[in-house]
Amino acid sequence: MRTLEQMDFGGLQIAFDDRVLRPRPWTAAQARWAAELLRAAPPGDVLELCAGAGQLGLLAVADNDRRLVAVDLNPVAVDFTRTNAEAAGLLDRVQVRQGPLDEVLGPDEQFAVVIADPPWVCRRDVGRYPQDPVLAIDGGDDGLAVAWRCLDVIDRHLADGGSAVLQLGTPEQVARVRASLNSAGPLRVVASRRHADRGVLVRIDRGRVSRSPG
Ligand SMILES: C[S@@+](CC[C@H](N)C(=O)[O-])C[C@H]1O[C@@H](n2cnc3c(N)ncnc32)[C@H](O)[C@@H]1O
Repeated sequence: MRTLEQMDFGGLQIAFDDRVLRPRPWTAAQARWAAELLRAAPPGDVLELCAGAGQLGLLAVADNDRRLVAVDLNPVAVDFTRTNAEAAGLLDRVQVRQGPLDEVLGPDEQFAVVIADPPWVCRRDVGRYPQDPVLAIDGGDDGLAVAWRCLDVIDRHLADGGSAVLQLGTPEQVARVRASLNSAGPLRVVASRRHADRGVLVRIDRGRVSRSPG
């Protein structure tokens, strides 16, 4: 029989079970960084890619008036996101979408801040984490397969002057993303914060397009 669990996550009560990734307390730092970036971000909503039970996006918008669009492929995850949004009194500002992250957004949708938490474990190492759902952790051969898809969505849907906070697993993964983005533009890795050996948070900005008068 499944056990429904509940965890305090930055003051929010988050329900989950073993069909989704157990919330990791250190990742509240990702939500807080996104909330901090929202203060200077352009107007607009927040997009959360790979939401799981939704705790990162919910915490990011809990203390402001931004709206959240939360996306996950796993139908159980989106149900938990909805339940957790309701428990937090945020359901009127939260829209949940189930499906592949690159197929659920309209072509013209733009977001002020994007939170992305893709699976980033290399496929050969997935067996080391038998308690975690494979869909939640399998990042393909080098751990970056879903992260690149997130970056493609960020490229198409992050507003000018907006920022994304992407979670990766290792400094080597960060170096690959930085080298790829910073040589091509318009997205740039502008900062990263390592959280011991648990993961790395990466801030990605899209510079404002300067429109000269006339
Ligand atoms: C690392 S977990 C993060 C979950 C949550 N943010 C957390 O911190 O617990 C990655 C999530 O990505 C989802 N996912 C994997 N591939 C996806 C895809 N192609 N499109 C949308 N979501 C996907 C999984 O279902 C899982 O919930």
